[in-house]
Amino acid sequence: MKLLVIGTGSIGERHLRVFQNLGRCSEISFCEPLPQRRAEIAERYEIPETSAHSDLDTALDHGNYDIAVIATPAPTHIAIGTRLARLGIHQMMEKPLSLSTDGVEEYARIVAEKNLVVAVGYVHRAHPTVSAIHDEIASGSYGKVLGVNISSGQAFAVIRPAYREIYFARPEMGGGAINDMITHMYSVGDWFAGPITRLVTDANRQALEGVSVEDTVHTLSRHAGGAMGVYALNLYQQPNEVLMTVICEHGTLRADYANLRWSWMREPNGEWTHVSVSIPDRDEIYRIQNAAFLDAVEGHGDVLCSLDDAIRTLHVNIASHHSAETSCWENVTR
Ligand SMILES: NC(=O)c1ccc[n+]([C@@H]2O[C@H](COP(=O)([O-])OP(=O)(O)OC[C@H]3O[C@@H](n4cnc5c(N)ncnc54)[C@H](O)[C@@H]3O)[C@@H](O)[C@H]2O)c1
Repeated sequence: MKLLVIGTGSIGERHLRVFQNLGRCSEISFCEPLPQRRAEIAERYEIPETSAHSDLDTALDHGNYDIAVIATPAPTHIAIGTRLARLGIHQMMEKPLSLSTDGVEEYARIVAEKNLVVAVGYVHRAHPTVSAIHDEIASGSYGKVLGVNISSGQAFAVIRPAYREIYFARPEMGGGAINDMITHMYSVGDWFAGPITRLVTDANRQALEGVSVEDTVHTLSRHAGGAMGVYALNLYQQPNEVLMTVICEHGTLRADYANLRWSWMREPNGEWTHVSVSIPDRDEIYRIQNAAFLDAVEGHGDVLCSLDDAIRTLHVNIASHHSAETSCWENVTR
C-alpha cells in the first residue's frame, strides 16, 4: 500500500513513524508546508526528497496513493477528506472530524459511494483497558450499561509546552478542551453505552496561562440505551490520569490508565479483580489503531472508530459547546 501523510506536525509525525514501523506500506510520502519541518521529517525518517512535498496539490501530481493520513488542523479535515475520497483513497482521519457539520454528509456520501475505509483517530478506543471493557460489555454478560463515569486530567503545560502557540489556543482551529480533549472521552462513552442523546456542559478556563480557551469541562449525558454519563476533564492537575468506570446491571468495570490495568467487580461490596495490560511506549496505542485500519483496508476486521461514530461525536462536540454557552441541556440530533 502506498501511503501519503498530510501534515507532519506533532501527530502526523507519530503516524508516519508508526506506519513505517508497522512495515506494511510499500511507499511512504508526506506533505508539509513548513520548509524546516519538512526537511526535519525527511531526514529523520529517511524519506527521499521526491516523496517530501510542500503541499497536497504537488503530492497528488507526483504520486498515486492507496491510503492517506489526514493530520492537519481540524477546519481542513473535511475538504481534504472529500478531495481524497473522490480519488478513491482510504483514510486515517485525525479527530475531531471537523468543527461544524458543513460538508460532512457530502463527505460521508462519497466515502460510501466509493466504498472507502475511513478510520477516525479517536485513539483511546485502542487503549487495551478500553477495548477490554468494550469487549466485556459487548459479550452481554454484564447486562445493560446503567452509568458511565469518566474523569481525566493532566498537566498539559508540561506535556505540551508550546500550547499557547499551537492550534490548542485558537477555538477556530479546533482549540480548547472540548474539541481537543474531552471529545476523546465522548467517543469512548458512545462506544461503551451507545450514542449520547442529550447533554449539559459546564466549561471554563481555570488555570492554563496565556490562553482564553476552556481548560476544564464537566458534562452530564444521557445515552440512547438509557445510561447516564458523567465526564470530567481538566488540563492542569498534577497526576496524569484517566479513570473510566462503567456500571452495568451485573457488575462494574474500570479502566485505570495510570496503573495500566482494568478491573471488574461482580458482587456488592466485593473485591476488584485486576487485569494488567502492557503498553511498552507512547506509540503503542497508535500502532493498534493503525494496524486495525490497515486490516480493514485489506478487507478483514473493522476500524476502531468509524466515520459514522465520529460524525455522532462531532454533533456531541457542537452540542457541548452550545450547552456551555447557554447553560442549558442540549439534544444531540444525529
Ligand atoms: N488522536 C490524537 O491523539 C491526537 C493528538 C494530537 C493532535 N490530534 C489532532 O491532529 C490534528 C493535528 O494536530 P497536531 O497536534 O499534529 O497539530 P500541529 O500543529 O502540530 O501539526 C499540524 C501540521 O499540519 C500542517 N498543515 C497545516 N495545513 C496543512 C495543509 N493544508 N496541508 C498539509 N499540511 C498542513 C502544519 O504545517 C503542521 O505541521 C488536529 O486535528 C488534532 O486535534 C490528535
